[in-house]
Amino acid sequence: MALSKEKRQFGDFQTPDHLAQEVTHLLKQRYQLSPEMILEPTCGTGAFIRAALRHFPTAHILGRDINPSYIQDAQQSLVNYPDAHQVTLQQGDFFTIDWQGLLSKLSNHILILGNPPWVTSSELSRLNQQNLPAKSNHQNRRGIEAITGSANFDISEWMLLQFSQWLPPQSGILAMLCKSSVARKVVNQVQRNQSQPFSADIYIIDAKQHFNVSVDACLFVFRYDSSGDCLCHLYSSLDAPISSGAIGERNGILVRHIPQYDAWSHLIGQNLTYTWRSGLKHDCAKVMELEPVSEGQFINGMGQTYDLESTYLYPLLKSSDVGNGRTQNYRKVVLVTQTYIGEETHLIENIAPKTWRYLLDHSERLNKRKSSIYKNKPFYSIFGIGDYSFKPWKIAISGLYKSLAFQLISPLGDKPVMLDDTVNFLSFDNQAEAEFVLELLNSEPAQSCLDSMIFWNDKRPITIDILRRLSLQAVAQELGLLDLYTHWAKAIHVNRQGQLELGLF
Ligand SMILES: C[S@@+](CC[C@H](N)C(=O)[O-])C[C@H]1O[C@@H](n2cnc3c(N)ncnc32)[C@H](O)[C@@H]1O
Repeated sequence: MALSKEKRQFGDFQTPDHLAQEVTHLLKQRYQLSPEMILEPTCGTGAFIRAALRHFPTAHILGRDINPSYIQDAQQSLVNYPDAHQVTLQQGDFFTIDWQGLLSKLSNHILILGNPPWVTSSELSRLNQQNLPAKSNHQNRRGIEAITGSANFDISEWMLLQFSQWLPPQSGILAMLCKSSVARKVVNQVQRNQSQPFSADIYIIDAKQHFNVSVDACLFVFRYDSSGDCLCHLYSSLDAPISSGAIGERNGILVRHIPQYDAWSHLIGQNLTYTWRSGLKHDCAKVMELEPVSEGQFINGMGQTYDLESTYLYPLLKSSDVGNGRTQNYRKVVLVTQTYIGEETHLIENIAPKTWRYLLDHSERLNKRKSSIYKNKPFYSIFGIGDYSFKPWKIAISGLYKSLAFQLISPLGDKPVMLDDTVNFLSFDNQAEAEFVLELLNSEPAQSCLDSMIFWNDKRPITIDILRRLSLQAVAQELGLLDLYTHWAKAIHVNRQGQLELGLF
């Protein structure tokens, strides 16, 4: 279903009544809540207002929304509710309301309830809309993000963080529908900023069923609690009786399954010899990726056939090939214009004139690439390229697929294979070494350790950061293969006499 620009700007997905009722029922039953005050900061047409009235009829209920007609609709929907006098609804913009002042005047037994807008700051910029907080150093973002102010965050993340700061300790509770990734970020941020213990739960909801959108969404319940364990307990649905895991912080990172992670935490460490990389980035598949049709002839993404030298063409495996284990053959080749980042490209003209002509033919499209990384770089630049790209053997895994299936990639057509930028890989000079490292990665300890850190419902669950946390040396030690590891990695290890030793090969 296509949403109007306005609906997208306001992240406008009204909660169906039955879901709001289910959520408030859960809050009453499981958390034994009896709030004196309920606040719905972006109440829309009022599903949570009605649900709150039904389950907590003695509470005072405050609702706000930016859209005056929603406030009107919500008001009208209360006419048959005998306790409607408990409700005050007003039009207001979240970002200009003095919530802190308002909260300080309200009862401490407060429930902040609702479903804040589902929209990100960059989506708003794309829509050229202003439904944003005044620029703040949200989340203390450092580096480029903070300098450029280009950090992409969910509006609801910002709202939830604000409320988490103002929530009265011991007696306030936050219960909101949001993306699971937003809930996790809020937990992570609270862990960093607050010294107070807290309790948090995530109940997965089916956003497709309730909102007709494919989003990993949840009910997030958060409160400060002197006996809280500072973990975020995960429930597979609103009526799941027991939690299926606990998300928490370890060494400054958010971990999906704390007990599982703790069991394998001795495998966490740095890899000095083996470095995970992401594949090639060119941002212009129509030009840079071609299908071989016959000897020396290639067809690009616009259906144009060209006669090209093979010098700059390499077999390409995309995420879908790697994710589906289709690694023995290739369907496409990719134009690799540089061997390292920033390398001058004009040499191509002499070495491979037909390839140069092809690039010239498409220079307009290539020069229009949006990302700022291409600015002030040689023409036809690519990224994610270096010595490692040209090594013959690779172990690759798609970042997009929901399984820890590492693939051994051999050279194809006598050339090293290139991978796209959603694939993570290690590269090797030697087949036997690659096979050995594959054995380590496919072992139960490595798989279980990595699995404990991966948020499988994320769009890109297998990130390079997660892969880099696993120490292959520690895995080899765990499996009793340290000697072999040292042999291949030429790593220093401690021998049985307690002396430092360099691996032999
Ligand atoms: C995801 S909808 C949910 C509405 C309602 N909470 C519910 O559960 O049905 C988000 C709501 O946020 C409102 N909204 C968006 N931006 C807002 C802002 N800056 N201030 C107040 N409300 C806003 C929209 O009008 C919309 O009703």
